Amino acid sequence: MCGIVGAIAERNVVPILLEGLRRLEYRGYDSAGLVVVEEARLKRLRSTGRVAELMQISANTEGSLGIAHTRWATHGIPSERNAHPHISRNLIAVVHNGIIENYESLRARLVKAGYEFSSDTDTEVIAHLVHSHYAGGMPLMKAVQSSLTELVGAYAIGVIAADNPDQLVCARRGSPLLLGVGIGENFIASDVSALLPVTNKVIYLEEGDLVEISREGYLVYDAEGKEAARPVQTSEISNESVQLGNYRHYMQKEIHEQPEAIANTLETACNSHSIMPGIFGAEADSCLAKVDGILILACGTSYHAGMVARYWLEEIAGMHCTVEIASEYRYRKSVPNPNALVVVLSQSGETADTQAALSHAKLLGHVHTLAICNVPESALVRQSKLRFLTRAGPEIGVASTKAFTTQLVAMFLLTLVLAKQRNRLNAESEQQHLHALRHLPAAVQKVLDLEPKIAKLAERFASKHHALFLGRGMHYPIALEGALKLKEISYIHAEAYPAGELKHGPLALVDKEMPVISVAPNDALLEKLKSNLHEVRARGGELYVFADADTHMNEEDGVHIMRMPEHAGYLSPVLHTIPLQLLAYYVALQKGTDVDKPRNLAKSVTVE
Ligand code: F6R
Repeated sequence: MCGIVGAIAERNVVPILLEGLRRLEYRGYDSAGLVVVEEARLKRLRSTGRVAELMQISANTEGSLGIAHTRWATHGIPSERNAHPHISRNLIAVVHNGIIENYESLRARLVKAGYEFSSDTDTEVIAHLVHSHYAGGMPLMKAVQSSLTELVGAYAIGVIAADNPDQLVCARRGSPLLLGVGIGENFIASDVSALLPVTNKVIYLEEGDLVEISREGYLVYDAEGKEAARPVQTSEISNESVQLGNYRHYMQKEIHEQPEAIANTLETACNSHSIMPGIFGAEADSCLAKVDGILILACGTSYHAGMVARYWLEEIAGMHCTVEIASEYRYRKSVPNPNALVVVLSQSGETADTQAALSHAKLLGHVHTLAICNVPESALVRQSKLRFLTRAGPEIGVASTKAFTTQLVAMFLLTLVLAKQRNRLNAESEQQHLHALRHLPAAVQKVLDLEPKIAKLAERFASKHHALFLGRGMHYPIALEGALKLKEISYIHAEAYPAGELKHGPLALVDKEMPVISVAPNDALLEKLKSNLHEVRARGGELYVFADADTHMNEEDGVHIMRMPEHAGYLSPVLHTIPLQLLAYYVALQKGTDVDKPRNLAKSVTVE
C-alpha cells in the first residue's frame, strides 16, 4: 500500500516521478504528491485526486532531486493536508509507506519541543524527527539513521533536504523499497515497474537497510549500520508487460493473459518427463519428504487458492491439510504440528498479515516453509526455506486474476510432488496429470472465448443489489472467489455458500430479485448440486449456471446455462474461475465503476 518514487539526476526528474507514480497508482490512490528541490527550496505539489490531476498541476515544476508518493490512507482521511510528502520547517521532506505504531507518543514529544503538525498522519513525525537531528548539525544520513532508531512499526521512506540538492536518503523495514541504478542518476521505488522507463538495473534492499544516494553512486548500510554490498540485478519485467496495450482495463488484460501466465508457470515443471521436487528449491526433496501435513496461510484471493488446494492435497497426496486466514492465525493460540509444511500463498509477497503469520509459525517451531509467490525477492520469498515463483507477470489490476490461477497451478504441482514422494502417484497417473497440465493453457483459452456471451449475461446483473454464489467440493472456493470478484469491483453485495448449506439458512434470502450463480462441473457432486438448484428455482430464484459441456442441464424459464467447453477433471477449478472473473468485470463495466482501482482498496496490503 502506498507507492514511493524518488530520483536524483542531472535532468529534470518531475516527469520521471510522475510516470513512476502513474505506474504505482495501483498501490493506493487516495491522493498523490511530489516535492523537488528548486533553488534551495522545497517545492511541493499535492492533489487529492489521481496522479493525472497531479500531472496537470506540475507543468511548471522542475528539479533534479525529488520524491513522490501515492497514498492509501491509514492515519487521517484522504485530503490534501494528509497527502505526502510531509515537510518539516521547509527543510526536510519525507515520503513514507507503512505504519509508525508509536507515532502518538513521538508526536506529543515533538509538539512539546515546538514542532507544529499540519496533518493527521503518522508520517509527519518522521519529518520532524529528522529535522530535529539535521538542524542540530548531523549529516542527513545520520539524522535519518538516528530518527529510525526511535520508530516502532513498518516503513519504507525517502528523505530529502532543501539545502542538500545532491543527496537522497532512503530506508526500509517491513515495507518494500528498491534502488534503481542509472548512469549518472539513481532512483528509489516501491516496485520495479515504476522505474522501467529509466532503468532495469535494481537493488532489492534488505530489512533494516539505509541508503545514501547521490547522482554518481550510493552507499548501503545494513541493519547494524555497517556498509553492505547488495547485488545489482537486471529485472526481467519488460516495460511492455506493464502497459495496457489494446485492452480497456488491466483486469481485462490480465484475465486474457492467463493462458500465457499458466504456460510460463508450468514451463520448468512440465518440460521434463516427470515432476521433480527441485522446482520448489534445492532443499525441497529432503524437506518435503520429512513433512507429514500442510498448513496453508494466506489472505483474500490467495486464501481461496489455498482452499482449493486442500481438496487436492488430501485427495491426491493423502496429506492432512489446514488452510487459515493469515490475520486469524497470527493471533490464535493454535496447536502447532512442527512437522507440517507451512505454505504461504501470496501474489505480492508483501502482505503484512501473511508475513506476520509466517513469523508466528516459525515462532511456534515450524521449520519447513514454502512461499508461493508472484514477486521474486519479495519478503515472503526471502523469509521461506522453499520457494516457487508463479510466473504470471506483473498484476496491476487491484482484483487478482492471473495470480490466482497460477497459484492454483503451483499448488497442483506441489500436490503431485508430495503424492509421488509418498507413492500415491504411479507413472501412468503422473503422465495423465502432466498431459492435463500441458493442455491447461489451451483449455483456458477456449473458456476465454465465452467472453461475448458473458458480457451479454452481465447486463442482467447491473440493476441487482445482491447475488448468491454456489459451489460444492473443490468448486466451493471458486464460488467464494467469484463472489469476492463481484463485490470488489462492482460493489454488488455477494455471498458464496457450499450449495448443501443453502437450506440451512441462506435459502431465506432467495426471491426473484436474487440472482443465484452456480458453478456446476460434471463431477461426483453434480446430482446433489442439481437438487440444490431445484430448491432455488422452487423459490423463484433466477439461476445462472456455469456447467460443463457434458453436464445434462437445459435452459428453461429462469434458468440460464453457460456451457463450458470441456471438463478438466482435477483442474476444473482453474477453468471455472475464468467465467466468474469475466462476469465480475462486465458487471462492473455496466455499473461504470473504476475496475482497476476499486474504491477503498489497494493492491498490496502492507498494513495490518
Ligand atoms: C482480491 C485480492 C486480495 C488479495 C489479498 C492477498 O482480488 O487481490 O484479496 O488476494 O489481499 O494479497 P496477496 O496475494 O498479495 O498476499
